[in-house]
Amino acid sequence: MRTKYCGNIRIIDLNRSIVLCGWVNKIRNFSQFIFIDMRDWTGIVQLVFEKKNNKAFKQALDLKNESCIQVIGIVKKRSAKNKNLDTGEIEILVNKINIFNISKALPLDYSNNSNDDIRLKYRYLDLRRSQLLENLKIRNKITYLIRIFMTKKNFLDIETPFLTKSTPEGARDYLVPSRNYPGKFYALPQSPQLFKQLLMISGIDKYYQIVKCFRDEDLRADRQPEFTQIDIEAAFVSSSQIRNFAEKLIKKIWLKIIDYNLNKFPKISFYDAIQRYGTDKPDLRNPMEIIDVTDIFIEQKFSSFFKINAEKKNRIALLCFFQGNKISRKKIDEYSNYVKKFGSKKLFYIKINTIENGFENIQSSMKNILDKNTLENILRKTNAKNGDILFLIADEEKIVNKSLGMLRIKLGDDFAFFKKNTWKPVWIVDFPMFKEDYNGKFSCNHHPFTALKKNNQKKLKKNPNLAISDSYDLVINGYEIGGGSVRIHDSKIQKKIFNIIGIEKKIQIEKFGFLIEALKYGAPPHAGIALGLDRIVMLLTKTNNIKDVIAFPKTTSASCLMTNSPSKSKKSTLSELGINLNKNK
Ligand code: AMO
Repeated sequence: MRTKYCGNIRIIDLNRSIVLCGWVNKIRNFSQFIFIDMRDWTGIVQLVFEKKNNKAFKQALDLKNESCIQVIGIVKKRSAKNKNLDTGEIEILVNKINIFNISKALPLDYSNNSNDDIRLKYRYLDLRRSQLLENLKIRNKITYLIRIFMTKKNFLDIETPFLTKSTPEGARDYLVPSRNYPGKFYALPQSPQLFKQLLMISGIDKYYQIVKCFRDEDLRADRQPEFTQIDIEAAFVSSSQIRNFAEKLIKKIWLKIIDYNLNKFPKISFYDAIQRYGTDKPDLRNPMEIIDVTDIFIEQKFSSFFKINAEKKNRIALLCFFQGNKISRKKIDEYSNYVKKFGSKKLFYIKINTIENGFENIQSSMKNILDKNTLENILRKTNAKNGDILFLIADEEKIVNKSLGMLRIKLGDDFAFFKKNTWKPVWIVDFPMFKEDYNGKFSCNHHPFTALKKNNQKKLKKNPNLAISDSYDLVINGYEIGGGSVRIHDSKIQKKIFNIIGIEKKIQIEKFGFLIEALKYGAPPHAGIALGLDRIVMLLTKTNNIKDVIAFPKTTSASCLMTNSPSKSKKSTLSELGINLNKNK
């Protein structure tokens, strides 16, 4: 139907007769001429309709924006170039036009990004935005690169089932009722975790898959209920081999997509990340770190001042904000309220004005406990200079870490004191195997198929909360881009982990019997990782909304406004599935 794409026509095509197909992007009517910007997925070209070509001119008068057309015309040189267009040196003098479909007035406005619901309802129109199209093209380039990279490294792309059993990754499952077995359900996979492990037991040495995963969890700007992983697993490899491999893949993607050379990724333990940044997803572009000053305030008089509860595990720590002493009282009060959201009782501050003039010159909300000695200790530890401000919290350790971690991010957002336009990947390693809730119940930090680090098995008996797993997360600029681990390849250890997290023996067999059994048939040591494709594309397209990199995303309440799903089912369909709806719900 066409001989050329709109965005590809250049001066070398001068005087050629061409056929184009596409959409009306913009119409300008100058009575003797009609100019139309015509668009396809390669770009825009200007069409000219002359009044003396009566038939085409008349047809053009009927056109509306976004109508779909075919034109036959001659490439002509423009009298005045348009530097903003790749095709700006030429225009198409139209001889003939076929109108395929006149568009209704659009329900959305391309010059305005604000109405998210309308954009999602008419997603097929929203996808006509050049930015979204560009994002999808970049996504395609990335998956193409990944497939070449993995194939060259001898990884086999193997599909795993969607209709399956629960694969616990910490979210709720999406369930699919079975017609053949009324009352029974498949679960959509939260990840292919168990299948990739079973493939290792089958002797598949290296597996990968670019695969949809489904998780029913609270959604955020970087989370969708169905998202895509680059899922990787290999047998007879260590955690560092998997990390090195994933690092090479990420470096390749950054180099090929945005021509950026990433340096070797540093490694930080989970414990250090929490102590220094208050989070296991630190954005290392922000140079500020949490500094521990608990030892400086060890005396009883300080505990009374800070109203510390001696029964709890406490911490006194601070952020030293470089050149922050100009921050107003009002702003400090705002930050005080901000950290209260994370449980902090109070945010103290010390403004370092002119150190040389002695500590009398210092403004602080804790001045009555700041003698010369204490202040000197603080300055030594923090390396604070004239013009800095210190924000201090004394509270339960968890609260201090979370609050200062969040304040670190907020200060970074508010004052933009570091370069955003750079990349800071980091491996977070050595996660505790378990987290313990207030009732003493354990759950796994990663999934329950994660192996422990060497010499940590003994801890399972007496101190499971001290056991460290052989696991790792990849974080780039504060986003968790991937996670993985060495896996358990011994059924006895697997059962032990299930016991610790409180899965009864009967349920273990019911839910994971196939895995426990498979682990008894010469299961090889194996390890792997899954990288979040959508998040990688988000970073590389510089968007902070995951919806911008998925063709048909869901709303934050997991619905599709375009197809109106989820939707009700017919009574007869439900009864075939053996489902009786609770009318109260
Ligand atoms: P994990 O649960 O850490 O590990 O997931 C791996 C990566 O997938 C991405 N991700 C998401 N992206 C968008 N929306 C979501 N709802 C979402 N959830 C996760 C993140 C995350 O780092 N089976 C293990 C991997 C393994 O052990 O090999 C797993 O799924 O970028």
